[in-house]
Amino acid sequence: MTGKDIGLAASLLRSGKLAAIPTETVYGLAGNAFDENAVLSIFKAKGRPAFDPLIVHSDSIGKIRAFVKEIPDALEAFAEKFWPGPLTLILEKEEIIPDLVTSGLDTVAVRIPAHPLTLELLRSLDFPLAAPSANPFGYISPTSARHVEESLGDRVDYILDGGDCVIGIESTIIRHDSGGLTVLRLGGMPLEELRSIEPGIKVMTSSSNPAAPGMLESHYAPSIKLVAGDLEKLMEEYRHMKIAVLNLDKDISGENIVASLSLSPRGDLDEAAKNLFAYMRRLDRSGADMILADLMPEKGLGAAINDRLKRASAK
Ligand code: TXA
Ligand code: MG
Repeated sequence: MTGKDIGLAASLLRSGKLAAIPTETVYGLAGNAFDENAVLSIFKAKGRPAFDPLIVHSDSIGKIRAFVKEIPDALEAFAEKFWPGPLTLILEKEEIIPDLVTSGLDTVAVRIPAHPLTLELLRSLDFPLAAPSANPFGYISPTSARHVEESLGDRVDYILDGGDCVIGIESTIIRHDSGGLTVLRLGGMPLEELRSIEPGIKVMTSSSNPAAPGMLESHYAPSIKLVAGDLEKLMEEYRHMKIAVLNLDKDISGENIVASLSLSPRGDLDEAAKNLFAYMRRLDRSGADMILADLMPEKGLGAAINDRLKRASAK
C-alpha cells in the first residue's frame, strides 16, 4: 500500500514491519535498526547479501549519540554543517546496534535525511531506522514511490509517498581514521562542498574498497547492458545495435537509436542527478538492446553521476 500516513508507517515499524521511506536522495527500505528480525527482513526483501552493511537514519545528533561511541571532532563539523542532508558518516557503534546492521563491522553508517515526512516519522519513533535503498539488490535505485511499487511492492508493508526525490542520487559517505578523512562513496553532497571544510579530504577509488564491501559489486544496473564512456565513440562502435542513449544536454537521433534522453537540456548537473535513475529505468524499458551513456563533466554532482554510470556498466 502507498500513502502519506506517517502514523500508519510508524505503527508498522513499531511492530517490526518494513516501510519504504522518502528521502532527498533515494527511497529507503526501512526497519527498526535495534530489532534484529526487522533488519533481517530488510536483507531478505532486497535479496541483499549479508556482507553489505546498512545505513542507519535518525532525526537528531542527540539521538545518534546514544548508539555510537563518539562523533570525532573531524566529523562533527560535517554533521553540524550538512545535516539534515545527503551525507553519511561512519562512526564506531555501540552494542545496541545489532551486528547484522553493520555486517559485523564495529562501525555504523549514520545520517539525518532531509525530507519533511521522514523527519516527522523519525521524530515519532524511539528507535532509528536502518534503510538501504529500496531496490532489489544491484538494480537501479528508486527516486519515486512508484519505482518502489514496481520492484518491491509485494515485499514492503507500506510505502510512504513523499514525492520525487529532490537530489536523486545516494548520499556521500565519509570516514575519519588515522589516515585522515576519506570519501568512501561519491554522492549527493558534492566533493567541492566537503573540501570547503576540509581541503585535504581524499577519495577512495572504486576498484578496491574493503571498508565498504558492498561497493565492490556491480550496482545500479538496468536489466539490459549499459556501457558508459565517450558517447560519440560508443555510437560508432555499436552502430549495428539497436541502442538507447543517455547524455547530458544533446538531442541525439539516428537510424539505430530507439530512444534518446538528455538528463538536463540546460546542462545543469543537479537536474541531471535528479533525473538519472528515472531515465535509466525508462531506457531499460525502451525496447533497445543496450544503453549507451555519455560521461558528465567531473564537477559538482557530475562526479557522483559518473560513478553510478561506471558501476552500472561494470557487468
Ligand atoms: O542516500 C542514501 O545513502 C540512501 C538513503 C536511503 O539514505 N541509502 C543507501 O543505502 O544508499 P545503501 O544500502 O544502498 O548503501 C549503503 C552503503 C553501502 O555501499 C555500504 O557498503 C555502505 O553504505 N556502508 C554501510 N555501513 C558501512 C560501514 N560501517 N563502513 C563502510 N561502509 C558502509
Ligand atoms: Mg543501494
